[in-house]
Amino acid sequence: MLTDFPAISFQQLHMRTDTAGRVLVLDSGIGGLSVQREITRVLPDAALLYLADRAAFPYGDWDAAALREHICALVQSVSAAWQPSAVVVACNTASTLVLESLREVLCIPVVGTIPAIKSAAEQTRSGVFAVLATPGTVKRDYTQDLIIEFAPEHHVALVGAIGLAALAEDKLAGRAVDFDRLRQEIAPCFVEINGQRTDYIVLGCTHYPFLEEEMEQVAPWPVTWIDPAPAIARRLVQVLDPKTVAVGCEDLFFQTN
Ligand code: DGL
Repeated sequence: MLTDFPAISFQQLHMRTDTAGRVLVLDSGIGGLSVQREITRVLPDAALLYLADRAAFPYGDWDAAALREHICALVQSVSAAWQPSAVVVACNTASTLVLESLREVLCIPVVGTIPAIKSAAEQTRSGVFAVLATPGTVKRDYTQDLIIEFAPEHHVALVGAIGLAALAEDKLAGRAVDFDRLRQEIAPCFVEINGQRTDYIVLGCTHYPFLEEEMEQVAPWPVTWIDPAPAIARRLVQVLDPKTVAVGCEDLFFQTN
């Protein structure tokens, strides 16, 4: 069971009441639910619509311009129908591309998901950490610029995992996780340089927190995994007027297919 809230059709999105303060949470699949659970923790009464763009999964393989255009069109049409008070792009891959464009077309706050590179740079004791993300996220200037800005003196292993998001989808759909594949995907994160080893791994894709337990099992040595979801939820609280947070509404699930 992916969610414990009801799935609705595009037509039903229009059936809104006058309630304000609703939040649209978007990802390519179920990864953004790792962000949604944090939002629910800090804003337990907020009404959320989770938009799983499964027809376009995985975002990590898309060409940048095509993905930007696709996400902007999708979020605009869902927003026009459901009229949220804020949008959370619960996806690193999408956030590297669409935040500016979405902010231009929507007149509501748009919160993005940024790999927690600053936080890892502040916390690492060895000076060696990894960013584990989709191939799309690792190649974008957005991510490279964060490393230049916040970790210029550190050794950062920037690892683009090809099939990790799909393994997380497998797990949440109740299918067995392929541990050999998982081991291969995360292996490049574990580096040793001048006697210093990776001590932190930034989870730069919202799917990956769902695999933390399994990754711990196959990791060659213990590390601290950084999940950006709590920071995203705190940011949402800052931009959303608490007086407008919808109360008593059911969370909903809408997916493209
Ligand atoms: N959950 C998405 C992210 O945070 C990506 C998964 C995908 O490739 O679609 O980057």
